[in-house]
Amino acid sequence: MPSLKTSEALFERARGLMPGGVSSPVRAFGKVGGVPRYVSKAQGPWLWDEDGNRLLDFCLAWGPNILGHAHPAVVEAVTSTARDGLAFGTPHRNEVALAELVLEAFPEHQLVRFVVSGTEAVATAMRLARGVTGRPLTLKFTGCYHGHVDSLLVKAGSGVVTQGLSDSKGVPEGLAATTVVVPLDDEAAMAAAFEQYGPRLAAAIVEPLPANNGLLLQRKAWLEALRAQCTKHGTVLIFDEVINGFRFHFGGYGRLMGVTPDLTTLGKIVGGGLPVAAVVGKRELLSDLAPLGAVYQAGTMAGNPVALAAGLATLTELRRPGTYEGLEALGARLEARWKQRSRGMGLRRVGSLFWPWLDASLPPTTAEAISPEVAARFHQSYARWLDEGVYLPPSAYEVGFLSTAHTPAHVDRLIDVLFPEA
Ligand SMILES: Cc1ncc(COP(=O)(O)O)c(C=O)c1O
Repeated sequence: MPSLKTSEALFERARGLMPGGVSSPVRAFGKVGGVPRYVSKAQGPWLWDEDGNRLLDFCLAWGPNILGHAHPAVVEAVTSTARDGLAFGTPHRNEVALAELVLEAFPEHQLVRFVVSGTEAVATAMRLARGVTGRPLTLKFTGCYHGHVDSLLVKAGSGVVTQGLSDSKGVPEGLAATTVVVPLDDEAAMAAAFEQYGPRLAAAIVEPLPANNGLLLQRKAWLEALRAQCTKHGTVLIFDEVINGFRFHFGGYGRLMGVTPDLTTLGKIVGGGLPVAAVVGKRELLSDLAPLGAVYQAGTMAGNPVALAAGLATLTELRRPGTYEGLEALGARLEARWKQRSRGMGLRRVGSLFWPWLDASLPPTTAEAISPEVAARFHQSYARWLDEGVYLPPSAYEVGFLSTAHTPAHVDRLIDVLFPEA
């Protein structure tokens, strides 16, 4: 058993200082139990905790580190930019360069606004949709997470169409009620929602590959149906690509599916490990944002030069030929080795994103179909995996990430730990 003395002592102190001892809830290890590791250093695919234990990381800061931790080109860009000043509060060169790269990656869009977090990107996109259409409501899908935007902290009950009831205290009823929630993977429920609320729906927001409640792969036809409904009803379609964007190719998942949204939200990879997010979209929509239009949005730290330097360096690396082919090959190896060793348990995998489904049944496509027993199996095994040096996200409902810093040997190690040979 690895020694965890320092992590234990720090967690004890932290619990007296911060709610749950953490800055973001899932880091408290509530589902898997035990003490969260206090990380002191990270390099490539590795984390080191304060007690000197080394962990093979498949969480990767929840997605931004697609190049692995502390990639030399990103660290160099950040440090050299920082030497010239940490924040200007003015326009600057990196902003123009990153905007050009993002719009190259999303040729369906013409303008981008940089913000600081995925939550802020979604809040901005929603306000913009409401401002442009003059309508009050948003359609969302059960199991999709869009940050902690008040009105989106809502999921469906078991009914076909549910007018939102908030999952979080502190959200006024009236605000939650501006969200209409329907299940994924169900064209009839979607059509019924548009039928009932269509003329009042400003936006429909979806993770085109939902990755916050397992990996709930949707059919292309379902995404096409959503696009068609939005077009028919004059509703702004927002693809929340905070996880998906730049993950599978140099662009969005929507383009891979051949379905074009009106607005796209980005985060995680676009900041390469520092706080950058973005709203990307059609010129006629983003032209309604201040200072051009009457939809207000602003930020002291928006477009921070050091943060944008990390994003710029990351996207520059990702754009090199062969990057995504390499990530796909790693993912394919994980899938092949999983099949050999898992004795029939499921794995949902798209490119370098994977979701262990510790059951012989097919991985589900809706949040409602995720069985708590299967999730419990993951949570019960987690401590052993960690003791053996493998760091997966500490919840069965989160996805795992591969990076360009992982090798086939790292993937094999993951399989050996998950499925030890008898
Ligand atoms: C799809 C999606 N949207 C929005 C967010 C919120 O982003 P942030 O945590 O940067 O506020 C997340 C975070 O995981 C996300 O996965």
